[in-house]
Amino acid sequence: MREDFKEILFTEEQILSKVKELAKQISDDYKDKDLVVVGVLKGSVVFTSDLIKYIDIPCVLDFMAVSSYGTSTESSGIVKIIKDLDYDIEGKDLLIVEDIVDTGNTLKYLLKYLKARKANSVAIVSLLSKPSRRKLAVDIKYLGFNVPDKFIVGYGIDYAEKYRNAPFIGVLKEEIYK
Ligand code: IMP
Ligand code: MG
Repeated sequence: MREDFKEILFTEEQILSKVKELAKQISDDYKDKDLVVVGVLKGSVVFTSDLIKYIDIPCVLDFMAVSSYGTSTESSGIVKIIKDLDYDIEGKDLLIVEDIVDTGNTLKYLLKYLKARKANSVAIVSLLSKPSRRKLAVDIKYLGFNVPDKFIVGYGIDYAEKYRNAPFIGVLKEEIYK
């Protein structure tokens, strides 16, 4: 699989050390709260499962599925909820786990949607952010890394549903898109 990549942006070791750092901050900040971790399927599955292993306080895990991208590399701008939460979040402290914030469309929508559900608080942790692509401002409370305006894959993030299983994060060779 490595040979399909033009460039590796973050190695498995770099990612894990960042994940531990974020989990430590989250554990400190949510010590006296009622934490519900909400993974956004499918892109954040790998990040979410690594992150919760290092969050050192009891928390609930739930998932939502939304769609904003088809199988192409451009956002449609339209957000649709495919799977809602299973857990009643009223009065809880939600932490939305995203893989990558691009235009900000998905999170802007999710934040509005979840706040209306009377959560006590809603915050965001995202492994990656592409600040140069932002159309809607979103407050990412915990951020792993900023990335340039390139199409990123690996560590849960896909191209046409593939490469989610790569343990590192990088950019594919042009010929893969053909
Ligand atoms: P946004 O709504 O434009 O912020 O896009 C959010 C979603 O688009 C992310 O959660 C990803 O699923 C997807 N996305 C954005 N940038 C990339 C990328 O570089 N590679 C793969 N998926 C991406
Ligand atoms: Mg996503």
